[in-house]
Amino acid sequence: MNSPVSVVILAAGMGTRMRSKTPKVLHRAGGLTLIEHVVRLARTVAEPENIVVVVGHGADAVRSVLAPYGVGTAEQTEQLGTGHAVRCARAAAPAHGHLVVLYGDAPLLTAATLAALVDDRPETATVLTAILDDPTGYGRILRDPAGHVAGIVEHKAATPAQREIREINSGIYCFRAEKLWAHIDAIGTNNPAGEFYLTDIVELLRAAGHLTQARILADPNELLGINTRVELAKVDAIFRARKTTELMLDGVTLEKPETITVDVDVTIGADTIVESGVRLLGRTTIGADCRIGAGSILASATLADEVLVHPYSVIEDSRLGAGARVGPFARLRLNNVVGAHAHIGNFVELKNTRLGDGAKANHLAYLGDATVGARSNVGAGAITCNYDGVHKHPTTIGEGVFVGSNATLVAPVTLEAGSYVAAGSVITDTVPGEALAIGRGRQVNKPGWVSRRKK
Ligand code: UD1
Ligand code: MG
Repeated sequence: MNSPVSVVILAAGMGTRMRSKTPKVLHRAGGLTLIEHVVRLARTVAEPENIVVVVGHGADAVRSVLAPYGVGTAEQTEQLGTGHAVRCARAAAPAHGHLVVLYGDAPLLTAATLAALVDDRPETATVLTAILDDPTGYGRILRDPAGHVAGIVEHKAATPAQREIREINSGIYCFRAEKLWAHIDAIGTNNPAGEFYLTDIVELLRAAGHLTQARILADPNELLGINTRVELAKVDAIFRARKTTELMLDGVTLEKPETITVDVDVTIGADTIVESGVRLLGRTTIGADCRIGAGSILASATLADEVLVHPYSVIEDSRLGAGARVGPFARLRLNNVVGAHAHIGNFVELKNTRLGDGAKANHLAYLGDATVGARSNVGAGAITCNYDGVHKHPTTIGEGVFVGSNATLVAPVTLEAGSYVAAGSVITDTVPGEALAIGRGRQVNKPGWVSRRKK
């Protein structure tokens, strides 16, 4: 039986160089906060109850983002160093098994790398290392003649000869938990920064006869940590590229993928085409054989198969049935359900509206808090007056209704199935089924009026 795995995530640091009131680990890359990326990574090897996030700066805000994940937290009120941070997690973390240390501001590590690190199940510890062309700033790995890790020296404390070493400490480790906890209290602050360095544990374990091994990472980009917003943008670009690559390999066509933004949780069916400049955000789900037009923004939208979104449409928190067509320049905001093969045309806005199968609103309309029956047609410029200045009211339109252009439907109001509303009407009362409603002033022609005025 493999020993149980726990993960401690260090996320107490302030992130001064972000120059932000938001704690560093709550900044977003690839559409998720940094800490969520790392927690999801930790979840690939550990159960939520065996994951402890060490929080400090912005602790309450970080805890609330973590709440849905069910992981534990430990508070480090003063940031006295990485060794101290791990010590703060002791009461909340398991005493036995293997314990991985991750950083909350280094979200690019892959699940494959973490799995390999954990699969080593070291007797004492494995440190993840990398060989860098420019190792400046990192702790350096010191090896004994047998190749074992003898210690880790921080850049600041390193001798000129040690600074020549290109193998660096990633800060990610897998420890035998019993050995970590048995020696962690021996870490002191005898270093230029006066901090408790977790890296000192390597020499402490070695002095007690326990050898640390190293695992060298093939792609050092996985270690990219974030200190500034410049690095945040770089990491974001890497997440975006990972996601678009994955989608293309799964059979989605992306035109100019470098211009397309897709959040990590988005799913897209095969043979869907996404044109350039599109943003697909949140939990957006797109079916197969759809086309998403250039410049469109979809946030938490759900599209069935064969949906056609013409360019520059904005769709939020809405569902579109199979074969529906939207846009160009349509706006679906908040809680709309558009039926199969329904059409929403240019400059049409929907809010909290249900549109039946095959219904159409092709030009310049506003439908708010409305239900539109199947195959009904809402003419150009027709609007629901759903708000009386205090309350919102519903508009109910039955099946097969024809709403003429520029009709004004003053809610609450009902247009029964098969009814007609004349263009330009102001409708305040129920229109019975199959009836024609005309609610407008009659036209008056005055013959010769113009020539009389000229005289
Ligand atoms: C650390 C390592 C260094 C390694 C580098 C890799 C030590 C002493 N040094 O240095 O060998 O090359 O990472 O990036 O461990 N944190 C806390 N509480 C603290 C201090 C830090 O939660 O009291 C968190 C930070 O928020 C950050 C992580 O730990 O996420 C690393 O801390 P940081 O100060 O960046 O360590 P480095 O100096 O970069
Ligand atoms: Mg650092």
